[in-house]
Parts: sequence; structure tokens; C-alpha cells
Amino acid sequence: MDLLLDVRDLDKSYPRGGATVEVLRGCSLELAAGASVAVMGASGSGKSTFLNLLGGLDHPDRGEVRTDGRVLDFDDRRALTAWRAGSIGFVFQFHFLLPDFTARENLLLAVRTVRDVTDDDRQRADAILDELGLGPRAEHLPGELSGGEQQRVAVGRALMNRPRLVLADEPFGNLDQDIGSRLGELLFELCRREGASLVLVTHDPVLAGRADRVLHLVDGRLASDAAPAE
Ligand SMILES: Nc1ncnc2c1ncn2[C@@H]1O[C@H](COP(=O)(O)OP(=O)(O)OP(=O)(O)O)[C@@H](O)[C@H]1O
Ligand SMILES: [Mg+2]
Repeated sequence: MDLLLDVRDLDKSYPRGGATVEVLRGCSLELAAGASVAVMGASGSGKSTFLNLLGGLDHPDRGEVRTDGRVLDFDDRRALTAWRAGSIGFVFQFHFLLPDFTARENLLLAVRTVRDVTDDDRQRADAILDELGLGPRAEHLPGELSGGEQQRVAVGRALMNRPRLVLADEPFGNLDQDIGSRLGELLFELCRREGASLVLVTHDPVLAGRADRVLHLVDGRLASDAAPAE
């Protein structure tokens, strides 16, 4: 069986002054299509760094990322960008919505990066906004939305191109915990329905428990719940 994502032995360090900060050491992850995994770890443990490598936003010092059996070429920026646009939905901690475009237009911009927008796309955008409880907000600009609503639009944008993989980096970390975990549940539900795999960075252990697996990033290494780090 081809894994959607087969990540092997990633190392990543950052130069700092004359020294280097070692962030990831031999991090591996296997993810089947439709599966979910939660990544937990202290602030600064390297969770965002790891997610950025999975999505080809940064390159590892060592190790490889395979999708569908093909090794990602981190030097081929154009191929990486095309793969990201078509296969991956990112949700960052900050929404990065374009301020001069409405909620609906922000979803459609995801399509526009790969092809022309069709009437089907407009219907899909509205259906996704409805599911996210944003039907009445479709014409609002990001500045006319609450923080939670902005993050929900960001989730909608991530799902718009039917990605096979959603990478979400503490998407609701800035929100009230109750609202954050409710939106997290919704994210799991939408990914399940869309058949997308999900890698979710979260500080919320209850939400993490919704994932098929929970991994902890400790001292640059990924440990599963079943085998806790020493
Ligand atoms: N460009 C960079 N140059 C130097 N050091 C960096 C760089 N980016 C990240 N780091 C360091 O790498 C470590 C991991 O950062 P990362 O952002 O991945 O942590 P994180 O687990 O996502 O933390 P948080 O929970 O606060 O978001 C941190 O110690 C950070 O200071
Ligand atoms: Mg982070």
C-alpha cells in the first residue's frame, strides 16, 4: 500500500550565531490516506518546523518526504508549489486571509491558484461556508469577522481544493478554549467527510485524542503515546 505521506528521518537545525540550534532529529511519520495524527509538544519544540517540512515550505537538512511513493524534491520550487496548491490545505495559527476580499472570494482564491473558477466552485465555496456556520458571512471582509470566524474561513480555504492532506498548526490556539475545541471537532469532521488526512498541531489533549494517533515532540524526537519519551 502506498502511504499518502511517508516521512523518514528528518533532521533540521538552524544556524544561530556561530552555533546551530538542533530542532528535529530523525523524525519519521507514516500516514495513510484518510488517517489523522495530532502533534503535541512544548513551545519551541519544533512542531511548526515539522509541519513546514511536511508541506514543503522548508527543506530538511537530512531525510526525505515521500507522497504516494514519490520523493519530494525540495530543490524544485515550481513542482513543490504545484503539489502544495493541488494536494495540501494549510491552516496556520494566523489566518492569512487577504483583507480586501470577502470570505467567499478568499475560498475561491485557492482555486484561482490552480485554474479558472467555475460555477461549481462558487457553489462549493458557499456549501463549505454554510457547513462552517458562515453562510450569512460569505460577503464579509476578514476585518468584518470575529477571530473565530476568520479562522473558520481559513479552514474553508484549506479544504476548497479537495486536498488529500490538511496541515493545521494550532489553528484555534488563540481562541477561547471551548470555542477552539468545538472548531477543532468541526475540522476533524470536515476532513473525515472530505476523505482528507489531517496532521494537527494542538495543545489541547482532548482534541488530540480525536486523532487516530498522538505524537509528542520532545528533544527533537517524535514519540507516540504508546511509547512515551523517557
Ligand atoms: N529561522 C529560524 N532561525 C533560527 N531558529 C529558529 C528559526 N525558526 C525556528 N527556530 C527555532 O526552532 C525551534 C522550534 O521552533 P518552532 O517554531 O518549530 O516551535 P513550535 O514547537 O512550533 O513552538 P510554538 O508552540 O511556540 O509554536 C525554536 O527554538 C525556535 O527558536
Ligand atoms: Mg509553532
